[in-house]
Amino acid sequence: MEMIIRPRRLRKGANLRKMVRETRMDKSSLIYPMFVREGTGIREEIPTMPGQFRYSVDQMPYALEELSKAGVGRVMFFGIPDHKDPCGSGAYAEDGIVQKAFREAKKRFPDLYLIGDVCMCEYTSHGHCGILKGEYVDNDQTLSCLAQIALSQVQAGADMVAPSDMMDGRVGAIRARLDENGYTETPIMSYAVKYASAFYGPFRDAAGSAPAFGDRKAYQMDYHNLREAVKEAMLDAEEGADILMVKPAMSYLDVIARVKEVTDLPIAAYSVSGEYAMIKAGASLGYVDEASIICETAASAYRSGVDIYLTYFAKEIAGFMDEGRIG
Ligand code: PBG
Repeated sequence: MEMIIRPRRLRKGANLRKMVRETRMDKSSLIYPMFVREGTGIREEIPTMPGQFRYSVDQMPYALEELSKAGVGRVMFFGIPDHKDPCGSGAYAEDGIVQKAFREAKKRFPDLYLIGDVCMCEYTSHGHCGILKGEYVDNDQTLSCLAQIALSQVQAGADMVAPSDMMDGRVGAIRARLDENGYTETPIMSYAVKYASAFYGPFRDAAGSAPAFGDRKAYQMDYHNLREAVKEAMLDAEEGADILMVKPAMSYLDVIARVKEVTDLPIAAYSVSGEYAMIKAGASLGYVDEASIICETAASAYRSGVDIYLTYFAKEIAGFMDEGRIG
């Protein structure tokens, strides 16, 4: 049969397929999110996230060691405090849980790149991401707290801060506070485009940060919206964000592709707890093959335009890259 163009020619054999691959990924783009809690000798598995743990600061180095060995050199810390109050003061306490984790990690692993999630919901008694006025999160009053949280994390050893609260103007407020204190070189990775998502469910179990009343729809984005993603991304870029994040990743690949088009900043995507939990659950029932699904999901995020990928599967993905399964 006469046929000049045969796409299958380039699919013949693994060697050739790899040569013409359009999406290439690298371990240096992986960030591992990690939960640290008060106490000692604790490494407790998170029930809704099998294979993920809450570590006390003394146990954390073992996990960091494993990550480093796997070639994952970037970690984001989430703190789980013992005590919460209405203004989330544990988030910026000098001896707060995340501050202790940064100091210890910096001392033990000077080459690891440490990132702080800047938010209040793990630290407030009501579980919302800011200061309440009645039942509404007061935007402008929250800004100063967020700036203080970012500053205290950087003072404790964070190399980068990542605000995830979705208050308006927080990137600008954090930039100003860091600059005033001499941290002009510390980058901000903004959770610029963060949707109000049911995919955060397992995280809220892990961190005990579910809102005590209502939901987060008055500050996180409505998942029906795409043009608003561009608006949020551009605003954060103008306020001085160095990296823009889209969150969640799965189900939001169109958003990643769109944001990538409109900015020249690096784009990160966070494959969140619910994505992890679904893959784990499906695989444990034998309905899907875990390794294959992890690889395919990761590749889809990169294919849509992601430069940086935050994932609880960071170590596994690094392993699959070593094996040449993806990358
Ligand atoms: C804090 C924060 C959340 C996540 C990251 N930072 C929870 C939320 O917004 O409710 C979710 C991460 C995940 O689900 O893995 N605001």
